[in-house]
Amino acid sequence: MRLKERKYDVLISQSTNDFFSIIKKQTKTFFIITDTNIAKLHLKYLVNLFRQRGYNVKTAVITAGEDGKSIRNLSYLYDKALEAGIDRKSCAIALGGGVVSDTAGFFAATYMRGIDFIQIPTTLLAMTDSSIGGKTAINITNGKNIAGVFYQPKLVWINISFLESLPERQIRNGLAEIIKYAFIFDYKFYNYLANLFENEIISSKDFDYMIYKSCSYKAKVVEQDEKETNGLRAVLNFGHTYAHALETATHYKNFLHGEAVAIGMLFAAQLSLKLKLCKQETYNKVKKY
Ligand SMILES: NC(=O)c1ccc[n+]([C@@H]2O[C@H](COP(=O)([O-])OP(=O)(O)OC[C@H]3O[C@@H](n4cnc5c(N)ncnc54)[C@H](O)[C@@H]3O)[C@@H](O)[C@H]2O)c1
Repeated sequence: MRLKERKYDVLISQSTNDFFSIIKKQTKTFFIITDTNIAKLHLKYLVNLFRQRGYNVKTAVITAGEDGKSIRNLSYLYDKALEAGIDRKSCAIALGGGVVSDTAGFFAATYMRGIDFIQIPTTLLAMTDSSIGGKTAINITNGKNIAGVFYQPKLVWINISFLESLPERQIRNGLAEIIKYAFIFDYKFYNYLANLFENEIISSKDFDYMIYKSCSYKAKVVEQDEKETNGLRAVLNFGHTYAHALETATHYKNFLHGEAVAIGMLFAAQLSLKLKLCKQETYNKVKKY
């Protein structure tokens, strides 16, 4: 990702050596933030990787699920970090899905006026969307993502082996955001995905490729419109107007975000068809997936 002086790597690799060869040698202390579900599955593994290499590691675990993006959890993170001796030279790590990446990103942006942070996404949605681009946020009582800042990580490490423990519904949730990139940008990528979905089997190579394509498109857009000021970044919101309406109307209980986006893209295509802004063939393609 090339954002002038804030350029950073998005590493797609299952190799821990690749990761440790990139992280800053001068950082000695890491503050790993994760949620209650991921803590049970992957926290010990990551902590050990760091400790084996001589780093200090402190951890904090927030509530899993959308409720985790709360002022209460943010406040818990500030207290926990201070108590653990996390200072301006420390680096926060977001180990998790979009909930952790949004909350930990906001924490990193504001703790001691901003400390470094690394994204290690563990859901397909986070690997292709929320871990890149620097949007961080928490929810307030009456609104989603109301408090937040743009704050870019120093590194994103996408390791698809984390997906092995992810439930199938969450995989499908991420696929919806991936196909969104194909609809917006790339007909060839759409055909590739269409073939893949016919087979129903997705290999590691396919995951790496889909993630690579999605991240590349997101990075290209964010590089040109980091803070959504010139309208370009808004193209990534395809389907999101309807999706947010659907999520709000159902109190975030019935649909995962990607599921709402999939329905939202269909509604948006239907409206375009009605307004004669898209062809029947285009609508059919959206409907198929
Ligand atoms: N900042 C952005 O640009 C951006 C973009 C898209 C979405 N988002 C935000 O992302 C959030 C949704 O993220 P999400 O879909 O990743 O949901 P999530 O973070 O809630 O994760 C989904 C569930 O999967 C569990 N989980 C995560 N990784 C796992 C793994 N490897 N194995 C087993 N279980 C695992 C989590 O504990 C959780 O229960 C929303 O709050 C949305 O607003 C942000």
